Amino acid sequence: MTNYRPLKIATRIVEPKDLVQREETVKAFYDAIGDDYHALHEGRFCDEILEYFIFYFLPKPSIKVLDLGGGVGRFAIPLAASGYDVTIYDISERMLAAAQKIANEQKVRLEYQKGSVVNLDAIASDSFDSAICINSVLNYCEDHVRAIAEVNRILKPNGTFIGSVNNLFAYAASQEMKEGNLETFVESMETGNRHIQWGDIAHGHVTHDFTREELSSALYTAGFRNLSVLGIFNLLGKYFNSEDVLKKINKERFFQLQLEFARKTQYINNSDDFFFVCNK
Ligand SMILES: C[S@@+](CC[C@H](N)C(=O)[O-])C[C@H]1O[C@@H](n2cnc3c(N)ncnc32)[C@H](O)[C@@H]1O
Repeated sequence: MTNYRPLKIATRIVEPKDLVQREETVKAFYDAIGDDYHALHEGRFCDEILEYFIFYFLPKPSIKVLDLGGGVGRFAIPLAASGYDVTIYDISERMLAAAQKIANEQKVRLEYQKGSVVNLDAIASDSFDSAICINSVLNYCEDHVRAIAEVNRILKPNGTFIGSVNNLFAYAASQEMKEGNLETFVESMETGNRHIQWGDIAHGHVTHDFTREELSSALYTAGFRNLSVLGIFNLLGKYFNSEDVLKKINKERFFQLQLEFARKTQYINNSDDFFFVCNK
């Protein structure tokens, strides 16, 4: 059962200084929250849905998977436990240290590498069968176009790239608009850039959220093909956490229904996040 309670997000207009050193502020945020991230997110139903989708779409083990912005190993650990050969790659030392601690406790073997998705120089071209990039990592990258081109470079021919990103309209409408900040909402919708601050955590940072068109165009431009963009959270919403309902539903049946509705073109934009699958 989930103990997860979403932290309130506060937004404000993005100032020019927020865009300078954007990567450093994201890193500072995750270094500050690294020790607590697992406890704050444990039991999120949305991560169970993501895990179902990842296992459904990822080619079967044993293959080499690079988990980009893999955080505390929420997906890397179950993948490695199921026979995948997983490297977890993240910009934050503290998130990687937390991943290592959890993986060691669960006796799961992962490879660890620190760095930014925007620059995968330390990773050889054509070296991974698949890459995953889950829960807004591409939104937080300073240059998502370059990051996606880097992912394309390090994948083997026909390699699979799976990710999930924030849907701009869904986030700006549920955050800026619901805070009553109409001009911040307008600005966010025009630029895609948003400044977010979680709960009472001191560091805020910029996120660049996508329309479905912007996401698709960035993936095609980098050379990906066979692209599917799915509305992964269009049934209950990403942050749904009613214990009464989650206790009642048959999860396997729900996951099948979510997979079915995530593919329905007319409802994809109703999802908080877009989930994508494509090939090099
Ligand atoms: C919302 S967390 C998601 C973590 C994990 N993918 C998950 O779903 O549980 C975002 C993660 O991306 C990492 N991150 C942010 N920007 C990054 C970048 N440019 N390169 C690599 N990692 C980055 C953060 O340190 C953090 O661990």
